[in-house]
Amino acid sequence: MTEATLDERADALERKMSDELDVLISKSALFNMADGKLGPTKMGQGMAAGAGKYYLMGDDPRLPKMPDRPTLLDFFKYRAAGTNHLLQSANLALKKDMPEKIVLACLLHDIANALFIKSDHGYWGAQLIEPYVDEEVSWAIRAHQALRFFPDDSVGYAYPEMYVKNFGADYVPDAYIEHDYQVARDHKWYMTARMITVHDLYAFDPNVVVTWEPFVDIVGRHFRQPEEGLGFDNSPSAHMWRTIRRPTKYL
Ligand SMILES: [Fe+2]
Repeated sequence: MTEATLDERADALERKMSDELDVLISKSALFNMADGKLGPTKMGQGMAAGAGKYYLMGDDPRLPKMPDRPTLLDFFKYRAAGTNHLLQSANLALKKDMPEKIVLACLLHDIANALFIKSDHGYWGAQLIEPYVDEEVSWAIRAHQALRFFPDDSVGYAYPEMYVKNFGADYVPDAYIEHDYQVARDHKWYMTARMITVHDLYAFDPNVVVTWEPFVDIVGRHFRQPEEGLGFDNSPSAHMWRTIRRPTKYL
């Protein structure tokens, strides 16, 4: 008997997990790509719907249940991969008496990483919150992605050492990042985006615990929370919130 490859064992494990649920769960193409795979979805593969089991069209039973009308803070509470980086960055901006708009931008600048996707996170994050915040805030969040790679001595912002460590000393940003940096450089809101990078804190004191408490009122004043709940207000990004809420919905 040949030994099962790692891939085959992973697939078997996923099938077993699916077997134990009352529903069939399929993986979106992007989730498979994250595992370096193309092709048909794995979970539920080989299983036809029926015999009492159907593909998931609602909440994923493996994830925490969300309120019917979720707020921004609910998404962070029930879906975030981690919020410490955002809270620490916003806390630094708060301590330096930055305007509330900048504190909010710092609080939400990596919302895409926390809730959705890392690749092109600044662009996704800006799009996600665009209908609910001042245009300057979403513009700055979009621009911070490019600005992070370019120093600005006038405010003491250097190329992050962490980038050297993570991407290598010879890393050169993609052409579109360089382009978007040049565009942002001449924009009236350049400094707002630059302030995100100045407060973008990775080397924070791990013993300092920052809670949401100092930011609840700032969010209340500057984030237009829809009454119907995020995902149900027909905004241009409502579908994105719904996908974060139900990432494995079959269609
Ligand atoms: Fe970022």
